This record gives sequence, C-alpha cells and structure tokens, in this order.
Amino acid sequence: MIPLPDNKNVAIIDDNDDRTYALAESTALELIKAATHSSETATQPINFRFTLQWIDNKLTLKDHSKRSVVNVCIDFTQGRALHRLKYGGGHGQELARAIKTRELPLVCDATAGLGRDAFVFASLGCEVILLEQSIVVHALLKDAITRAAAHPDTATIAERMTLYKSDSTLLPGNWLYHTPPQVVYLDPMYPDGKRTAKKEIQTLRVLLETSPAVTNTAKRNLAAYDNTADEQKDYEISLLQAARKTAKRVVVKRPRKARPLADVAPSGNITSPNTRYDIYGS
Ligand SMILES: C[S@@+](CC[C@H](N)C(=O)[O-])C[C@H]1O[C@@H](n2cnc3c(N)ncnc32)[C@H](O)[C@@H]1O
Repeated sequence: MIPLPDNKNVAIIDDNDDRTYALAESTALELIKAATHSSETATQPINFRFTLQWIDNKLTLKDHSKRSVVNVCIDFTQGRALHRLKYGGGHGQELARAIKTRELPLVCDATAGLGRDAFVFASLGCEVILLEQSIVVHALLKDAITRAAAHPDTATIAERMTLYKSDSTLLPGNWLYHTPPQVVYLDPMYPDGKRTAKKEIQTLRVLLETSPAVTNTAKRNLAAYDNTADEQKDYEISLLQAARKTAKRVVVKRPRKARPLADVAPSGNITSPNTRYDIYGS
C-alpha cells in the first residue's frame, strides 16, 4: 500500500459545533460538509477514507473503505472497558502483575492507543500518563477521557489519566510532564499481526499508517508492515532505549510467541494464553 500524504486521508465532518471547530484547529485536519459525505456505502463522493464526527456525543472515526462502514470510538463507561473493570481479575491479572499495580506505581503508557490498558492501570488505582503520537487517536482518547470524567462510574478513574500528544522515542528528553514514572509500558503495533486482527485494529493500523503523527520517527512503527526490517528494528531499539532511560521497570506487551521488542531479551516475563508481558529492569 502506498501511504497517502499526511492529512489527506482523514477529514472532520463539519456539524457547526464549536468543539468540531476546536478539533479542526488542534489537529489541522480538513473540515468537510456532511452533505458532501452522506454516503454510508463504499462509493464515496469525495476522497477521504476516514472521517471524524460526533455520533451520540462520542467522537467517532469512520472507515469508509469497507462495504459496511467500520466505526471506531472509545467508551470507558460501558461495554468492554466496564466489563473488564468488573471481571478483569483486578491486581491478580497478568497485565497488573507485570506492572505491579498493587504497589500503585506512576505508570507511563507510552503507546496509549485506544487506552484500554491504561484504563485498567487507572482503575486499579495507579496514576497514568498516556502518550500517543497519532493526532487522530489522541483526539479519540481525549474525548473518551473527557466523557469518562463526567460519568459517575468512571470519574475518579479518569482523573488518574493524563494524556499528552507525544512521540515516546523522544523520552526522557522531553519528560516535561510530571514526576518521572516508575514503570513505562509499551504496546507498539506488532508488524506481523495484521491478518488475524479484529476489524477495529485493522482500521487503526491503516489509519496510523496514513494519518498525521507528532513526528516522523513516531510514525515509523505505524508503517511497520511496509518498512524494511532494518527500519522496524531501529524504531524498536529507539522505543525500548527511551523507555529504559525513563523508568527502572519497562513492560512490553507482545503476542505470546513473538520475538522480544528490538530482539532484546527481557529479564523476565509473565504470560497469559495469547499474550506475553516482557519485563526489563526491576
Ligand atoms: C497497539 S496500539 C496500543 C493499544 C493500547 N495498549 C490499548 O490498550 O488500547 C499502539 C499505539 O501506540 C502508538 N505509538 C506507536 N509508536 C509511538 C510512539 N513512538 N510514541 C507514542 N505513541 C506511539 C500508536 O499510534 C498506537 O496508537
């Protein structure tokens, strides 16, 4: 796939709302009139694969490339996030044990994505700094955290989540945010996982590959499956090194059978049926 130039693959639907104009300003994405983009089918009157718009008060990303449009939005107040909150296994679940959530460390989730893992850390009582390099994913997350902060079931959890638009390979040089974290958590896109991934994740992969990023370095991982092995390796090395300089414990999420990030052997790991959490440091 040939990536389209930045900003040309995602547009914001203009609904005459102030928050839409604020979003357009903060992301520099183009605003288009809803009337020119009314089709819900594969045939598009205009050339944007993705659009952003508020649906039922949730900022929603639509992928128009499929026969049925794929919608991606983040909601911590219901569905999967809430289910995991109630039945996810608390401090005993593998992810929580890897992070040592029981000790309530300050955690930096340096590849925040859809914020699912960060929400788990925050729901277990940890303060979480979320870093996300994609301007579009950052916007989806920001909206979800704002809604969670206004909901009685999730308000205290959302208060523990602080989000920044940032490239984590630049850590710790740009650690302007907060007290340095005790743990950095990394869950970069795994380059070989595309065939088995759910629709939502497939959408996210293409979005990340073709939409604006904070820096070009950050974007490298996003084009992972178009990159050469050397580019991918360099990216992984810079991500892991930056994380290790920032915190004494780094946890990297990998598919269970995958090679470790940057091919650097961890000091230990915790496994669940499909996932392995590689641990570097103490
Ligand atoms: C697989 S997703 C993370 C999913 C997340 N753990 C969750 O629970 O939803 C990977 C995310 O990391 C982000 N990312 C990759 N490299 C990054 C970097 N250098 N700095 C910040 N974010 C990065 C991508 O934009 C993407 O949104």
